[in-house]
Amino acid sequence: MDVTVVDHPLARARLTTLRDRRTDNASFRGALADLTQMLIYEALASAEVADVSITTPVSDTVGARLANPPLLVPVLRAGLGMVEQAHAMVPESNVGFVGIARDEATHQPVPYLESLPADLSTTPVFVLDPMLATGGSMLHTIDLLRQRGAVDVTAVCVVAAPEGVATLEDSGHPMRLITAAVDDGLNGDAYIVPGLGDAGDRQFGPR
Ligand code: URA
Repeated sequence: MDVTVVDHPLARARLTTLRDRRTDNASFRGALADLTQMLIYEALASAEVADVSITTPVSDTVGARLANPPLLVPVLRAGLGMVEQAHAMVPESNVGFVGIARDEATHQPVPYLESLPADLSTTPVFVLDPMLATGGSMLHTIDLLRQRGAVDVTAVCVVAAPEGVATLEDSGHPMRLITAAVDDGLNGDAYIVPGLGDAGDRQFGPR
């Protein structure tokens, strides 16, 4: 699996805001939106473009548009905080949804929502989930996408744990990971260390 860590100074600054326990929910959502913009920018760096003939006020010229805009798939709940910004950057994209809760006792993913196009065989897909922890939710989402024929899948995550990266690598699915950090690992409650806590709670409050 191809892993890209976006290590730009601005990305590090926003990630620090996200990690800081003193950051309130509103500021957390703002920093997450900013960082999402940087991750999506990087995720699209190698996107195919098609020529567009236009006329400027001065002359004719040839510009570009995305040849095949990605389907954006936020993983609810925490991925909701990424989708608005991602969609603002790629307004021509469609959006699908996957909802996965986490069983706090077993740390296993509990799927509760699946709203995706039936055929993804020609569509690049960007899965938006701030935290790649055990990798269980991401793997479940990628299985759903692969069942619909997806062959071009990018996981866009703010923080990844080495355990989650290994889960995706071991799955054998062809995919990319774009993240702002690969942290030290997971604690006994399957939280990423140092991480940023519960990304859903920090945006929307506790359940
Ligand atoms: N989900 C989160 O929101 N945070 C973690 O650290 C792990 C999973």
